[in-house]
Amino acid sequence: MQFANVQNASHVIDLTWQNDYVFTMLTAPQAVFITTYGCQMNEHDTERMFSILEVHNYYQVTAPEDADVIIINSCSVREKPVHKVLSEIGTYKTLKAQKPHLKIGVGGCVGQQEGKKLLSKVQNLDFVFGTDTIDLLPQIIQEAQSKKNVVQTKMDHRGPYTIETMVRNTKVSAFVTITKGCDNFCSFCVVPFTRGRERSRLLSETVKDVQNLVARGVKEITLLGQNVNSYKSPDGAGDFSDLLNTICEQTELKRLRYTTSHPKDFDDKVIQAHIKHVEKLGLYLHLPVQSGSTRVLSAMNRGYTREEYLAKVLKIKKALPEIVLSTDVIVGFPTETDSEFEETLSLVRELEFENVYSFKYSPRPFTKALKYTAEEQVSEDVKDKRLYKLMDVQEEIGFKKAQTYENKTYDILVEGPSRANPQVLTGRTVHNKVVNFLGDSNLIGEIIPVKMIKSQPFSMRGEILN
Ligand code: SAH
Ligand code: SF4
Ligand code: F3S
Repeated sequence: MQFANVQNASHVIDLTWQNDYVFTMLTAPQAVFITTYGCQMNEHDTERMFSILEVHNYYQVTAPEDADVIIINSCSVREKPVHKVLSEIGTYKTLKAQKPHLKIGVGGCVGQQEGKKLLSKVQNLDFVFGTDTIDLLPQIIQEAQSKKNVVQTKMDHRGPYTIETMVRNTKVSAFVTITKGCDNFCSFCVVPFTRGRERSRLLSETVKDVQNLVARGVKEITLLGQNVNSYKSPDGAGDFSDLLNTICEQTELKRLRYTTSHPKDFDDKVIQAHIKHVEKLGLYLHLPVQSGSTRVLSAMNRGYTREEYLAKVLKIKKALPEIVLSTDVIVGFPTETDSEFEETLSLVRELEFENVYSFKYSPRPFTKALKYTAEEQVSEDVKDKRLYKLMDVQEEIGFKKAQTYENKTYDILVEGPSRANPQVLTGRTVHNKVVNFLGDSNLIGEIIPVKMIKSQPFSMRGEILN
């Protein structure tokens, strides 16, 4: 258990917090434990929560038993994550009984979606906050010390989006948000309701943010947005490809990644940026297709046809033959027929993605797809069969693809010790392929040539070249 060194907290402190800061500093330090579900945006939000709380005299603990405050940064994109949140709170029942001062809160997308309803649904919950009120977290917790049922889920749908990235300890890689919210309203997706309207940051502010992180030692940045391709600087300074080019040209960053791309807005200018800055932007693209059937894509409100998706991917492959692609697929969207699912399989076989993240459709609150009747739903049994079939098809393709790396040598950005084995270093190729290898920790942050020895389920085993 460690106390945060508040003096050395390396992020910038927003001056509007100063009064509050003095107040909380007079109280004893509080231990905070956060669990994170969902996407990289949520991971990044958790880091922001810790950064803000640290300035307000909280310190991170890694076990809930040690905590004075437990926060669940939740995800509601599918049914399962919501159940996980509810059952996690259930596991704190005894702890809460033993430690009456313990405060438990839910933030993130379930918090935003459910608001005060969550307090009546779940026992032992003290506060709920949303995706747009993270900066208010110290005040929210403080209020929860003396009041029951504290809820703060207001959302700014209109104001300019300006934010400074906050990270506590500089690591090799960092996330930088470029847009918040989503305006696409895919008919299955809850995100536009949990993250609000789409807003882009100013290009100049974003580039400055990246420069600051690089000055602090960050080597690789992943730009985050629900649909990065619709990024547009509010002052007209540029679109997504302009942002990529500017960051590559005006910063000393070693690698620049982004997620998530949307096929409808993915354009030639992004391909050109990859060609121009291939060393930094790499040879990897995650382009979620969701379905291989134009009829289903239209029902999903995705804004492109099977043919348009294929044409874009073939164009990228032609321009960058070595590019590695991955995608997301939903099986069992209401009304999806066997032959429409076969169209998804044929697209997956044709494009040979390196990874396919496949999900069974689950109905989400507020979404257009809720209009489908019980008869129009695909049964759980059929969803399961389609999911396993898709996974089988992809496993074979993925296995074949992984073997093509063996015995080749690639430049790896060394990220740090591997999670599974701290004696082993981990890094990634420009194709985003994870490689584990033995090496000295002074290599962390460097780009070094590593020979690929053996492909493993989700990574490669490599060897540093002497
Ligand atoms: N903004 C990103 C991803 C958002 S959610 C994008 O547009 O690609 C991540 C993935 O979860 C989606 O790509 C989709 O495949 C899956 N997903 C979203 N809603 C879902 C639902 N209701 N049921 C099953 N999978 C879903
Ligand atoms: Fe959801 Fe579609 Fe927006 Fe992605 S683009 S977050 S799937 S609504
Ligand atoms: Fe989940 Fe919210 Fe991310 S619903 S996927 S945490 S945007």
